[in-house]
Amino acid sequence: MKTSKRLSSLTGYAFAEIDNKVKDLRSEGISPIDFGVGDPTEPTPEIVRKALSDGANRHASGGYPNYTGSDEYRTAIAHWTKKRFDLDLNPATEICASVGSKEAVFNFPEAIIDPDDFVIVPNPGYPPYARGTLFAEGRVHYANLLPENNFLPDLGSIPADVCKKAKLMWINYPNNPTGVTAPASFFEEIIAFGKENDILIASDEAYSENYYGKNRPRSILEFTKTGVVAFNSLSKRSCMTGYRVGWVSGDREVVAAFKKLKTNIDSGTPTFIQDAAVAALSDEVHVLELRNLYRKKRDIMVDAFGKAGLARCCPDATLYIWQKIPNGFTSVDFAGKLLDPQIAIVTTPGSWIGENTPEGNPGEGFIRLALVPSVEECELAAKRIEKFLSGTCTTCQK
Ligand SMILES: Cc1ncc(COP(=O)(O)O)c(C=O)c1O
Repeated sequence: MKTSKRLSSLTGYAFAEIDNKVKDLRSEGISPIDFGVGDPTEPTPEIVRKALSDGANRHASGGYPNYTGSDEYRTAIAHWTKKRFDLDLNPATEICASVGSKEAVFNFPEAIIDPDDFVIVPNPGYPPYARGTLFAEGRVHYANLLPENNFLPDLGSIPADVCKKAKLMWINYPNNPTGVTAPASFFEEIIAFGKENDILIASDEAYSENYYGKNRPRSILEFTKTGVVAFNSLSKRSCMTGYRVGWVSGDREVVAAFKKLKTNIDSGTPTFIQDAAVAALSDEVHVLELRNLYRKKRDIMVDAFGKAGLARCCPDATLYIWQKIPNGFTSVDFAGKLLDPQIAIVTTPGSWIGENTPEGNPGEGFIRLALVPSVEECELAAKRIEKFLSGTCTTCQK
């Protein structure tokens, strides 16, 4: 069978390639510690699971769920947003439920983009920003996230003709993969940039609750609701990746366009999942516990690389460490070295997350670790890194 040109043009999803490497190690009888995909392994909180099973009985007669989310779910989102960001959102007009964020992020350009319109996409970044653009027949301009700019896009370096033809720009803070948060001044700057160039700013806030310090990450909606839209998810906040539930909120015209698109593309979030999501949003205790747990794992791994002579790359937020690698290695080579049987830890080469641009691949020089193994597994991985990696990098980048 011949697949479409569009599908054929895509390279494999990077994580499928990692899965294959893990399988190879397992077939040799080695159990690698898997820092590959950002899928939390902690159980979904009990109050969420209970609400899910109660929800199945509450909605005994089944039936298609509302496309945009139940009143109860959208109201719970509005309450949470008020508490968390001191922000008023109208549940009827400014919020729409989504089947996890990926669905919303991938499909969203269909609502905004005409063929050949530009979408400005962070690089390295979450693949659906670019792939959703390509499926909507738009053109991608990559804005590289570099350490010298604190992994913020350099708006001044975006060519004027791209600004003219761009309709949409994605930002993602706290950022996957770099682990940085954005200061208020950046949100102000990007909003002004969007206004000046008539570009809608889409802020992916999937990791807004996965932070480590005292300063809570900001939402773009705290600064304005005009010309901006935010994408949120319960996947990482509440270990609900398997539930597939999130929401889109912001500028009411944009939310209305997303609702229209969604009604035509897919179905609503299942009713019992929305009940579980309401329970998740009502509780901050589990979120705090998860934050403390991930901080512990972060510190173990950052210390291990530091002791092995590598740079200390300590993230402010997210589930990820964006680890600088030693001189003399490509990111693929270094991830391969960590797969040596005596270390056996799975990481993602930065060049697989970054895209090639005329200025190079900004993921090169890094590997990404998703802090999803348990604390005990992190301790074991740390011991192996300290023992078998130390001394391999005489010219480490600090
Ligand atoms: C930056 C970013 N945005 C959105 C998502 C999507 O999360 P979900 O589809 O599980 O809600 C992810 C998942 O890894 C992500 O890393």
